[in-house]
Amino acid sequence: EFMHALKDLNTLEEKLEKKLNIKKVIIVPGSYDEDEHVIKDIGKRAAKFISDIVKNGNIIGVTGGTTMANVVEEIPPLKDKKDVLVLPARGGLGKYVETQSNNIAAKLAQRLGGKYKLLHVPDNIGKEALETLLQVPEINNVIKTIKNINVLVFGIGRADVMAKRRKLRKEVIDKLMERGAVAEAFGYYFNTEGKKVWESSTVGLSLCDFKEIDTVIGVAGGTTKAEAIIAISTLRNDMTLITDEGAAKKILSIV
Ligand code: BG6
Repeated sequence: EFMHALKDLNTLEEKLEKKLNIKKVIIVPGSYDEDEHVIKDIGKRAAKFISDIVKNGNIIGVTGGTTMANVVEEIPPLKDKKDVLVLPARGGLGKYVETQSNNIAAKLAQRLGGKYKLLHVPDNIGKEALETLLQVPEINNVIKTIKNINVLVFGIGRADVMAKRRKLRKEVIDKLMERGAVAEAFGYYFNTEGKKVWESSTVGLSLCDFKEIDTVIGVAGGTTKAEAIIAISTLRNDMTLITDEGAAKKILSIV
């Protein structure tokens, strides 16, 4: 029975790799929108994947969010410390400290036995304030280091959900919807074809930087994120996606 279920998931992974045209898909059983515990399993699989691939000297970028918070919680304590540096990929201080990218970066570094740097720049700040902040040497140094990230682990969100969570103005949200935004990742909003339709006013990883990173790992589950995952998968065909069965089946029913 168990072996059978495992084989079915493997088949589903291969199907999704072909459909999304990406290098690797890892699927955990169940669906996050039906069963809250599934997020833990997604976290575990992602944590294992990260621990396996991370090498000494790597600069790892992370985003925030509930999914990423679960990923770092599940990083097993390592016998051998990894000489890595972990950074938040982009500015943005949310309301809840648990899901902030700074906190997630620090936790991941501690678990891996590496170092971290933090970025204290909020979301949606004015241009002038942003430019002033960029002149602070500490901030400038982190932003420069972000350009050297070689492993990025990021959450994928729905555009509508993330726009509300980030408290974008109603006019901006309307414009996003008008432009067909379905996905959000590292502060960028995309339509189904993966075209950028909006960008948060903050600093850090740019879309150009994203395309140059050696290893990119997207983590997201639940049927409601199906369209968002499709959009983000168009950005790079060598990305790894860690998701759940619910999202996988939903995606296959759309594409
Ligand atoms: C955010 C990331 O913190 O998490 C976003 O910066 C991502 O880019 C989002 O879309 C996903 O959040 P969650 O809570 O659904 O994992």
